[in-house]
Amino acid sequence: MENHIYPIFDHTLQRSDRETLLNQKAKVIWFTGLSGSGKSTLAIALERELAQRGILCYLLDGDNIRTGINNNLGFSEDDRNENIRRIAEVSKLFVDCGVVILAAFISPTNEIRENARKIIGEENFCEVFVSTPIEVCEQRDIKGLYKKARAGEIKNFTGISSPFESPVNPALDIDTSKYDMGQSVAIMLDKILPELGK
Ligand code: ADX
Repeated sequence: MENHIYPIFDHTLQRSDRETLLNQKAKVIWFTGLSGSGKSTLAIALERELAQRGILCYLLDGDNIRTGINNNLGFSEDDRNENIRRIAEVSKLFVDCGVVILAAFISPTNEIRENARKIIGEENFCEVFVSTPIEVCEQRDIKGLYKKARAGEIKNFTGISSPFESPVNPALDIDTSKYDMGQSVAIMLDKILPELGK
């Protein structure tokens, strides 16, 4: 028996068809900022809120990328470039799938982020700068990495022995030492829901 709940597609499926199936618009929300700035925490909170509104998201961060597809990469300039290039290519596939990607990576330089933006496409890319100051990130030091970096045990550590360039014109700028989670989530929803056509 035919199923008339879903539209009938008599052609090769396009991104727009998948977006129709999912009843959403795809996009990449790209979180950039120092280690410990709160990128993943904000992305996780945003995913929960968007899911409650029926929007399918997928979170990409160091936990699922650097332990898998990018487990052969370190933190030299070349490796960071390659890390972000692969992440951008993966994000592009998800966008074609109709899914909203929340990508949380330091992505430390303007060049590296521009490259990601180019791969993903300007119209699909929304940059969120998590601008928590380094003093706060270092004080939090959730993973104990700042301490090790200061002791010279970790080379090329972003903010200590490797550069971080603030984005020039991000869609959003959130300093997690100024806002609590509720405020941060409200700021993100305010900007991002309209971008997703909601
Ligand atoms: S990026 O620079 O290539 O974008 P990415 O976001 O994937 O970095 O990984 C950053 C995470 O790796 C940090 O949050 C931290 O836990 C860990 N890490 C390990 N070594 C370094 C380092 N040298 N610099 C920055 N982060 C590091």
